[in-house]
Amino acid sequence: MTFLVTGATGTVGRLVVEELLAAGQQVRALTRNPAKAALPEGVEVVAGDLARLDSLAGVFDGVEAAHFINFAGDDYTPLPDGAGLVRLAAEAGVRRATVLGGRADGELEQALAASGIEWTLLHPVEFMSNTLRWWAHTVRTEGVIKEPFGDRLSALVHERDIAAVAATVLVEGGHGGRTYTLTGPEAITLREKVAILAASIGSDVRFVELTVDEARAKWRDDGMGEETVEFLVSALGNTPEEGYTVVPTVREVTGRDARGFAQWASENAAAFQP
Ligand SMILES: NC(=O)c1ccc[n+]([C@@H]2O[C@H](COP(=O)([O-])OP(=O)(O)OC[C@H]3O[C@@H](n4cnc5c(N)ncnc54)[C@H](OP(=O)(O)O)[C@@H]3O)[C@@H](O)[C@H]2O)c1
Repeated sequence: MTFLVTGATGTVGRLVVEELLAAGQQVRALTRNPAKAALPEGVEVVAGDLARLDSLAGVFDGVEAAHFINFAGDDYTPLPDGAGLVRLAAEAGVRRATVLGGRADGELEQALAASGIEWTLLHPVEFMSNTLRWWAHTVRTEGVIKEPFGDRLSALVHERDIAAVAATVLVEGGHGGRTYTLTGPEAITLREKVAILAASIGSDVRFVELTVDEARAKWRDDGMGEETVEFLVSALGNTPEEGYTVVPTVREVTGRDARGFAQWASENAAAFQP
């Protein structure tokens, strides 16, 4: 049985690949650039672009279950032909799917709902790994974190727990039609997050709370587009209840407790050390 992972070189997809391998499954990984993919030995790496269905010939052949991202392109643009993608999967006999939920449901989700494929929408809250993307550089070079909304609460989730849920759902089945919100085991404020990180790297980290306008300017300087900047202002400044409410889904699906931020910080401490 083959399991197809799309987004396989990404933060979550890479770990879905690892979780499926650890479960003893055959894994096919899709990437636009196999030469740069650097995936574990034993993985069948195939070239394909989710934005171009003609590049996906044969990708679903022999695939029992597939993990989907719902965007195409480095700016997370929605898939241009989600329905066509589902048609290819269904015609090839794919029986089960997971979707890594993004900012909004689109054509892919609607087409899956109308197909005979047993599918599950994974709806993670904020990834712990954003910490690496957003903070590692300034902590390493200046010992400082500059962010708005110091008191905002988040039930942030370890990316490996998202992957573990995806792999369990794909391998075991029986989760069709469900939407799983995925959180970590606790809700913490940004200030608490900074303190946990500082303790795990063993040095002081200064927290500078930005005003919203200072944050907008910083994110633009970091290269973010206007849409992403405004998404962040809204998502971080006015986090919906789902984003800070702990749910037991990781344990219910995988049988093990969700990993906390202290564990994430100790696993990744080296990336923050000078
Ligand atoms: N960060 C958060 O806090 C958070 C929270 C909730 C939900 N999410 C959602 O999580 C998703 C991002 O997941 P991630 O962080 O794991 O992604 P990521 O690390 O940014 O990786 C992006 C992946 O998408 C693949 N990709 C992009 N365009 C492609 C295309 N046209 N064809 C084929 N593959 C393509 C890339 O593969 P190649 O470059 O190898 O082709 C890469 O593997 C988004 O939908 C986001 O909305 C994020």
